Amino acid sequence: MAIPVVSVIKSLPPKGECLVVFAGKDRRGEVLLHTGRKEILTAAKALIETGEFQAKENSLVSLYQVAGYKRVILAGLPSNKKPFDGESVRRLGAQIIPAVEKYGQIAVDLLEMGEIVKSAECEEDVFTRSLAEGMILKAYRFEKFKSLKPEEREKRKLARIQFVSESNRLAVRLQEVQITCEGTCTARDLINEPSNILNAPELARRAQALGKAHGFKVTVFDKKKITELGMGGLLAVNRGSANPPRFIILEHRPKGAKKTVVLVGKGLTFDTGGISLKPAAGMGDMKCDMSGAAAVIGTVTNAARLGIKVNVIGLIASTDNKTGSNAQNPGDVITLMNGTTVEVDNTDAEGRLVLGDALHYGRTRYEADLTIDLATLTGACVVALGRQATGLFTNHEPAVAPLVKAGEKTFERVWPMPMFDEYADQIKSHIADVKNVGGREAGSVTAAKFLEKFVDGKPWVHLDIAGTAFLDSPAHYLPKEGVGVGVRLLTAYLRDL
Ligand code: BES
Ligand code: ZN
Ligand code: ZN
Repeated sequence: MAIPVVSVIKSLPPKGECLVVFAGKDRRGEVLLHTGRKEILTAAKALIETGEFQAKENSLVSLYQVAGYKRVILAGLPSNKKPFDGESVRRLGAQIIPAVEKYGQIAVDLLEMGEIVKSAECEEDVFTRSLAEGMILKAYRFEKFKSLKPEEREKRKLARIQFVSESNRLAVRLQEVQITCEGTCTARDLINEPSNILNAPELARRAQALGKAHGFKVTVFDKKKITELGMGGLLAVNRGSANPPRFIILEHRPKGAKKTVVLVGKGLTFDTGGISLKPAAGMGDMKCDMSGAAAVIGTVTNAARLGIKVNVIGLIASTDNKTGSNAQNPGDVITLMNGTTVEVDNTDAEGRLVLGDALHYGRTRYEADLTIDLATLTGACVVALGRQATGLFTNHEPAVAPLVKAGEKTFERVWPMPMFDEYADQIKSHIADVKNVGGREAGSVTAAKFLEKFVDGKPWVHLDIAGTAFLDSPAHYLPKEGVGVGVRLLTAYLRDL
C-alpha cells in the first residue's frame, strides 16, 4: 500500500516545494483567499483581477516561486453548498492530488480557514477530515506488479501531507482518518491482488499478518476442521478447486465492551461460476468476489487500531469457485452446517452456500447483538442499484437507520430492499429444503431470503456490495478496481454504536 501520511503543523514552513491554499467567495461573489501568507495574497490578486482565477468549485491555478514555495496551488472551494457536505470536500481533496503527486511532501494551508468554513456552516473538523480523506484515498495506487525503476517509483510518490492549522484537536482527528483510510486501502490491496496470488490460504495468511501487526486474534480452520464442522456449503463450492478452503476468524475483544457485532464476509478469491460457467467477457473482474472478506478484514483492523469499544468478530468463508473434475454439478443436493439440504440449481450461486455455513457458525458460537454480512452476491443487485448504493436486506428494522446514517456520513450509501415472505416461495425446491436460485425476478432479494434461513431469526443485515465493490473506471477518490467499500461505512457505524 502506498498512501501518504498526514500530519499537523502549527505554522507555515518558511519554504517548501508545494503549498495548497483555498479560495472561496463571499456573498457578493468576491474571491476570498485564505492563507497565512501575505505574499501569496498579493501574487494571487493579479490572477483574481484578470479573472484568470475565479475560485470556481474544484478549479486549480498555480503560482510559481512565491513566498518561499516553488509552487502554490490555489484551489476553489465548493460553491453554493451550504453546509459544505463531507462528500464535496472529499472530492475537492481528490481533485488536488493529480497536481501534487510528484512532490514528496506538500503543505496544506488551513490558517484563516475558520471564517469560510463557518460561513459555509461546515464544522472545521468535518472540513479537514473530509479533505484528508479525499486526498489519501485518491493518492492510493496499486503498482506492485509494475516494473518501475526505483527512481520512477520515488518520483510518483506523495509521502507526506502536512496540514497547517492552529487547532489542537486536529492531530488526533487526522490520525483517526489516516487509520480508517489505511483500512480501506488494505481492503483495496486484497481485492486488487489477482487470484493466482491471493487464494484462500493466502487470504488467511494476510489476515494473520494483520492480526499480528495490529493486535487482534486470528484463527484459521483448514479443510480438515471445516469438514469436521460439517460446513457442507463451503466444501461443495471448493470441490472444483485445486486450492483448499479456509475459514478465518478475526476477533477484536476490548475490555469492558458491552456489545458484540459479528461481521461475515464472502471470500471467493475467484468465481468462474463453476460448472455453470460464466461468460469469458469480464470474467477477470471476479477476482473481486472476496470484497466482502476484504471489508471485514479492513474493518476489524480499524476497530483494533482505533480501540473501538465493541466486540467485533469477523468470519470469512474462503475458497475459489472452479470447474475441476470433482466440481459440484447443477442438480446436486448438499447439506449445509445447520442441516439444511440445498438443491444446487446453479453452481454460480455459490456465495450463498458458503455464507449459509458462516452465518450458522456465527449464530451458534457468538451471542451477537447484530450480525452483518457483506458479499458481492448478485448481478441482480447491480441491475437494481448500479454503482451508487449497496443493497441492504434485513430481518431487524432497528438496524436500518444507523447504517443508513453511517452510509450518508461516509458516502458509502446503503439502500433498504424489501424482504417480504412471499419472495421465499421462489427458492422452494421439489427435492430439498431449499434451492440456491430463485429465477430472474428480484434476484438480489431471493438471495437474501436464502441467507435469512441461516440466522434463526436473530438480528441480521445483509449488504450486497456487488455493484459498489469494484469499478471499471475511477470516480473522484475511488480508484479503478477494488474500492474497499464497507470499511469506512462499518468503522463509522461501530464507532457510533
Ligand atoms: N459473484 C457473483 C455476483 C457478482 C456479479 C459479483 C457481478 C460482482 C459483480 C455471484 O456469485 C453470482 O454469480 N451470482 C449469480 C447468481 C445467479 C446464478 C442466481 C448472478 O448474479 O448472476
Ligand atoms: Zn457466482
Ligand atoms: Zn460469486
